[in-house]
Amino acid sequence: MESPRPLLLCAVLAGLVVLAAAKPPHIIFIVADDLGWNDVGWHNDKMFTPNLDKMASRGVILDSSYVQPVCTPWHLGFCDWKYTPTYRGFDSFMGYYNGAEDYYTHNVIAARAEEILDSVDPEKDQLYLYLPFQSVHAPLQVPQQYEDMYANISTKSRRTYCGMVSALDEAVGNITSALRDRGFMDNAIINGGPTYTASNNLPLRGAKTTLWEGGTRGAAFVYSENLLEKTGYTNNEMIHAVDWFPTLLTLAGGEPDAGMDGVNQWPTVSSGAPSARSEFVYNIDDIDKNAAIRVGQYKLIEGSPGHYNGWTPLPPLVASDMVNASFAKHQLFDLQADPTEHHDIASDHPDVVSKLLDRLSFYKATMVPSNFPLPDPASDPKHFGGNWSPGWC
Ligand SMILES: *[C@@H]1O[C@H](CO)[C@@H](O)[C@H](O)[C@H]1NC(C)=O
Ligand SMILES: *[C@@H]1O[C@H](CO)[C@@H](O)[C@H](O)[C@H]1NC(C)=O
Ligand SMILES: *[C@@H]1O[C@H](CO)[C@@H](O)[C@H](O)[C@H]1NC(C)=O
Repeated sequence: MESPRPLLLCAVLAGLVVLAAAKPPHIIFIVADDLGWNDVGWHNDKMFTPNLDKMASRGVILDSSYVQPVCTPWHLGFCDWKYTPTYRGFDSFMGYYNGAEDYYTHNVIAARAEEILDSVDPEKDQLYLYLPFQSVHAPLQVPQQYEDMYANISTKSRRTYCGMVSALDEAVGNITSALRDRGFMDNAIINGGPTYTASNNLPLRGAKTTLWEGGTRGAAFVYSENLLEKTGYTNNEMIHAVDWFPTLLTLAGGEPDAGMDGVNQWPTVSSGAPSARSEFVYNIDDIDKNAAIRVGQYKLIEGSPGHYNGWTPLPPLVASDMVNASFAKHQLFDLQADPTEHHDIASDHPDVVSKLLDRLSFYKATMVPSNFPLPDPASDPKHFGGNWSPGWC
């Protein structure tokens, strides 16, 4: 039976970090949601993202930066006030406690970011600004002028989506100018897009919610005016989203706890040193009964990778995305030789399959079972003046 899950799944992340020049540095961590691999200017010259492109080309582009196949930054839980940002270390928070919000009924996050910058002293204070944009997640909505930048795209959804990407780029441009004007400065982006709503991951395979590279490998970069030792190149070292916490913590002068999932990747990011990790888990899902793991150049997928299994072309979007294709119980890909996952080599390398299965069992032993409760009626916004609010558990 089809579980109700995909309806609530939100996103693959795309993010952007801005790091600054003070000692210890100011850190601006920007995450975009549902941005496709092929939806940024440095991967696709049809996209108009000049602000992001400029920082990416002057910083370091991270081309093996992985995220989860579905979103988290909106869905971290909010039933009790103690789970919300200002009870977990943030001094202030502006946002909403759910996903897929209407774009036209909210204030612009960029404007609030500028307000915060005005309240901080770049010399005395140390800024950590976390900007998880909902954009470019559905609903597909954007002011006409941004859509008009893509007048030659005939597919309406793709035209709107591309306009949203350009509006996001402009918002990031506004924030970086504000940082520069106020004496802060510097900065990464992370992602994977849902090709079924108009983003594009070519040449990678698959979409959001799948275990393919298109659902898990993000468009990412780090920019800084003076903290990076090596800039202007593409770094292919393995980095996972869980690494950002220990990396940024170290950079801010803190010390990561032993036992964290992530590892400090600052040497890799700043100077191109070899990655601090050689393996990571894409996901282990005991409801959908699938999993994937990467060890070195190899990736093992167990079970069905998901519902969107093709290399979806650019518009006009076509429906043939191998939806419901069937796959062998275990597939093995050599991502170094075959980053676009065209050739399952499991039958030629039973030894590698068995090694990766051992690592997968190791991680499965520590997993927390999936939990996907039905909506709680106590959370209904009608109890909270029409808003999603904490206070119901
Ligand atoms: C569509 O417009 C974009 C942006 O102006 C341009 O880069 C691209 O070449 C155009 N594509 C075609 C097929 O005309
Ligand atoms: C960027 O700033 C300009 C000038 O203040 C403003 O008109 C525009 O709406 C801003 N763009 C975004 C996406 O916030
Ligand atoms: C794929 O399979 C699901 C579950 O069996 C079904 O609901 C859906 O209609 C199928 N989609 C296509 C395009 O065949």
